[in-house]
Amino acid sequence: MNADKLVLLSGIKPTGEIHIGNYFGAIKQFVELLNDDSHQGFVFIADYHALNFIQDAAEMKRLTRNLARTYIACGLDPERVVLFKQSDVSAHTELAWIFDTITTMPYLMRAHAFKDAEAKNKEIVVGTFNYPMLMAADILLYNASVVPVGQDQKQHIEYARDTAEKFNRIFGETFRLPEPHILLDVAVVPGIDGRKMSKSYENTIPLFASRDEITEAVMGIVTDSSGDRPENVYAIHRLIKTDEELASLYEEHKGKYKALKEALIEDLDTFIAPMRERFEALTTDAEIDEILHKGGALARERAEAKMDEVRRAIGVR
Ligand code: ADP
Ligand code: TRP
Repeated sequence: MNADKLVLLSGIKPTGEIHIGNYFGAIKQFVELLNDDSHQGFVFIADYHALNFIQDAAEMKRLTRNLARTYIACGLDPERVVLFKQSDVSAHTELAWIFDTITTMPYLMRAHAFKDAEAKNKEIVVGTFNYPMLMAADILLYNASVVPVGQDQKQHIEYARDTAEKFNRIFGETFRLPEPHILLDVAVVPGIDGRKMSKSYENTIPLFASRDEITEAVMGIVTDSSGDRPENVYAIHRLIKTDEELASLYEEHKGKYKALKEALIEDLDTFIAPMRERFEALTTDAEIDEILHKGGALARERAEAKMDEVRRAIGVR
């Protein structure tokens, strides 16, 4: 591992099927940044974050392996990037506790995720309330400078920055401040109903969808009859083709939504097929487990070195 390169770190919760919003909003960005070798990469599966939602051992295992396969099918090379499970590095939860002791309740109550959960009048678990502190630990343990995520995660990165500053102020310079990395023109990928694409809204196009699944999703895209251009179709289309490429197609089929949807199905299938094939062909469970096991050992080494500094700084060592 090259110690001079800037660290890029990102993670996703294994809570469901990965969709094209996750891909264009987050995964694509970090795979591209990592493949030019300009950064040292740490990419992980946020299983302890997922535990707030997935409380079934078999399902946790299945979703975790699926996410590892997804990363690899999207072009992440586990030989060059440290690919690991959050739960394999206990420093994450340990550091989250330390952050809890310097963080106030009113500050955490301002988090969007908490406010959304509260607005839905849910019985919020402490893990959801505390989520930003675990995420701050994920980032700060590795001195990450670049953290590619979708727009909805921007506030969490600000929390990580604030927490690093606060810790440094109290205990002395220990953590580097991270930057979010958000591509503005794909910051929010809309779902088939026009709202943000999200597994919780059931409006997704799965990243490894079969031709039939693509057809079903695209035919379900909500269109209004007022304009010439179906905006919800176009918004998805322009993720895979440029405005110039689409101009003549949309001009030629003005107002003909069915033809435009058929063109989108064709283009999505062409785009998804190679990834779908890689996903399906990928390695056995045992091989995936081995990759995560190795990644876990590398991540632990790095995280433990940081924890040594932290323990000294707070006076428990
Ligand atoms: P979901 O909303 O489907 O539950 P997650 O919260 O697990 O998705 O998000 C995983 C990553 O994908 C995050 O970095 C998030 O910002 C990004 N992401 C999720 N949905 C979208 C979207 N519709 N557009 C852009 N990025 C997204
Ligand atoms: N909170 C992120 C999400 O919901 C996942 C995540 C956890 C993460 N820890 C992280 C992303 C650290 C980037 C860096 O998608």
